[in-house]
Amino acid sequence: MKRVAVLTSGGDAPGMNAAIRAVVRTAIYHRLEAIGVMRGFEGLIDGEFAPLNRSSVGGIIHRGGTILKTARSERFKTEDGLNRALYQLKNSGIDGLVVIGGDGSFRGAQNLHLKGFPVIGVPGTIDNDVAGTDETIGFDTAVNTALEAVKKLRDTASSHDRLFIVEVMGREAGFIALEVAVASGAEYVVVPELSFSLGRLCDKLHDTRSRGKTHSLIIVAEGAMSAADLKNKLQDTAGYDARITVLGYIQRGGSPTSFDAILASRMGSFAVESLLEGHKGMMIGTVAHQMTLSPLSASWQTRKILSPEKLELVEKLSI
Ligand code: F6P
Repeated sequence: MKRVAVLTSGGDAPGMNAAIRAVVRTAIYHRLEAIGVMRGFEGLIDGEFAPLNRSSVGGIIHRGGTILKTARSERFKTEDGLNRALYQLKNSGIDGLVVIGGDGSFRGAQNLHLKGFPVIGVPGTIDNDVAGTDETIGFDTAVNTALEAVKKLRDTASSHDRLFIVEVMGREAGFIALEVAVASGAEYVVVPELSFSLGRLCDKLHDTRSRGKTHSLIIVAEGAMSAADLKNKLQDTAGYDARITVLGYIQRGGSPTSFDAILASRMGSFAVESLLEGHKGMMIGTVAHQMTLSPLSASWQTRKILSPEKLELVEKLSI
């Protein structure tokens, strides 16, 4: 193996730059050439490649977003797009590719793998919804960003004796919501993994108030329902006048936390070394802090479980 390429795909996540840096520097350490692919699979199809050296990735470990830019590519889902991408890779003498992204990006990576091209996936998404790894790159930062906002909202909730509903991202999963709920001491969390009961929520709010607590905080994952829908349900059923905040894309930006910068550095480096050892069609993960490799396909074929212990914690600690 002489030339390794790296791309970022799907939603940007804090720590992607740290992972790019780790891929490039590890490649150079092992005397390989490193190539950056712009705009994810879109740039792969169009042959938007740029050689990267050690200084091209200097000063980026702490930067949010991705210097390689990212995209969600519909063209890459077609046979024509895939074949064009393969042509570009071979034509540029690239022997291996590191794909940094979520499970959607790994489906694309798997198609390259099935065509015989050596690919390794590095899980980068704020949603943490990728099986095969305890954490994805960007998740910890997104949780901390959301938590900072929720702490500020708590001030207003308590000063005005109000009920606040905060909607967080996460696509079809409740990982961000649950983590934020535990860390902020929220009264209730609504996640797509559990069926929602308006009755149970109203009972909880009633109990909270009857114990003398005058403000409450509900964290809702976007994949379960919108904050606006939940507000309307509470208003129509029990007359609650909730205030809502949708945190949105703020959760995707900013400098990675030390956890994410370290995770990204470990994963990016391990990806290159795994390619060198001949692994293909695999995804890097960390399980119980140890680096792991699992088939790319497992990332979407297995549903990652939300911690029952943390769900119970929200219930137990919000009395
Ligand atoms: O996957 C990351 C994520 O931010 C999700 O939490 C959210 O549902 C989605 O991306 C938004 O996607 P887009 O950037 O295409 O609007």
